[in-house]
Amino acid sequence: MGNNSRQRAEPGSQIPHVGTYRRAMSVSLERMYENALDWEHLPYVHDSSFGSIKVQDSGRWGWKAALVDSRGRDSVIELRLDRESRRWITRNLAGGALGSEIWTHVFVLGERSIEIVVDFFVPGVSEADRNKTGDAYARLYHQLYDEDEAMMLARQHELDQRFQPSSETAVQLAPRSELSLPHSFELGGRKQVLREVEGSLVAHAAVCPHQSGPLTNAELIAGEIICPWHGYRFRLEDGVRVNPGANGNASVSHCALRPAPVVSENSQGVLITASS
Ligand code: FES
Ligand SMILES: [Fe+2]
Repeated sequence: MGNNSRQRAEPGSQIPHVGTYRRAMSVSLERMYENALDWEHLPYVHDSSFGSIKVQDSGRWGWKAALVDSRGRDSVIELRLDRESRRWITRNLAGGALGSEIWTHVFVLGERSIEIVVDFFVPGVSEADRNKTGDAYARLYHQLYDEDEAMMLARQHELDQRFQPSSETAVQLAPRSELSLPHSFELGGRKQVLREVEGSLVAHAAVCPHQSGPLTNAELIAGEIICPWHGYRFRLEDGVRVNPGANGNASVSHCALRPAPVVSENSQGVLITASS
């Protein structure tokens, strides 16, 4: 599989068109493409729709992956991004919706303002059922894009922050009884959070090193934090990423969290010290 495999002739699809979903979003084209190419977020950001994913091939051209949806149904999906036409086509290559195609076009309205038009093509749907099927797809896509838009806006917000590292190695906080947890603070110019986990105070980075996912309320199990965007799992103690990712992808193994700072309590309150 690669970029030179078969491309469908232009324009449109031969498969019956059942409906369209349109949406304006305050994100850049770059964020939108990044989101389309990001197969890893599907079972995490869209966990009510997808159960798991195993990528078979991916690149700047798009991706192909075996997906299991939240009801346990298998499919093989391919997404091909065509930057020249500002669109991507998602094809169902195996499974229940075999042969269906979803064509998404992006219209750039401003630097951070786009409109997407998503057309659903589904084979084997009778004329009478087209509207109903199209509405169901539109409802699903409305939810998926609610989730995607929140992710893209949060990522853009983090990218816009001007990070100013400082040599600060400790920060004194108020006494535990006066803090409302999770409590956000900065250490060395980086966003951190103080939380209570199983009765103990724990501090860690508030932002994921992968794509700036939010870690403030991320699941924390047995000393490992799990990012809600792509499920990367980091050991708090040393920041090492401990799971290989949905496809065992080693290329992101370098992605590590900063080791969690040390939390202690003194006469003034909670003292956070950068780990050495
Ligand atoms: S942003 Fe991707 S795993 Fe955290
Ligand atoms: Fe998404």
